[in-house]
Amino acid sequence: MKNMHYHHFKGDDLSRSEFIQRKVVEMILNSNLPDEERESSKIWELKHSSGCVQVGRILAERRGLNKEFAELICILHDIYVIVTGKYSDHAHLGAPMAEQILRETNKFAPEEIKIITEAVFHHSDKHVYSENPYVELAKDADTLDCFLYDNVEDYYIYNKPPQVAKEYFKRIIKIRKDLGMKALKKHLEILKQLEKKSAKVKT
Ligand SMILES: [Fe+2]
Ligand SMILES: [Fe+2]
Repeated sequence: MKNMHYHHFKGDDLSRSEFIQRKVVEMILNSNLPDEERESSKIWELKHSSGCVQVGRILAERRGLNKEFAELICILHDIYVIVTGKYSDHAHLGAPMAEQILRETNKFAPEEIKIITEAVFHHSDKHVYSENPYVELAKDADTLDCFLYDNVEDYYIYNKPPQVAKEYFKRIIKIRKDLGMKALKKHLEILKQLEKKSAKVKT
């Protein structure tokens, strides 16, 4: 008889995407790499990967995309950071890790793995607007989840060059609009400042 209760990620009655989601959460929980050796933290990795999955589902539904692919892209997008604690070039370095995780399960066709790993590979290129809806979903879910935290704006302002930082603000304004949410005044103001600054950098 089919279980009448929701699985709550216990047992074997999980979809293949849920199986991967649980695996990634377990990788974070069981990681021996302490926060002192991470650029973020295990708590952040748990919150951000899970948050991305949920906002990724919302974006997929809104855009008529496959929700399972969205979940998998989102849970795996920062896999390199989860494993190594480092951000440098993590999108490119994470794609083969994502591929290995998916392949090991024997539950995914090569074309499916390609869609997911391509999105992981390109997710840091926030300044590029590609024709690939899953690549754009990866960038947008990542951006949307990050910007749902309070006071995250300073991180972009102070840790990224203005020409890179401005792309995150451009994106969040666009994503919010797409979801019927007004642009936040502070985002518009920061974008203006960053555009001024990046124009100065160019000259
Ligand atoms: Fe990332
Ligand atoms: Fe991320």
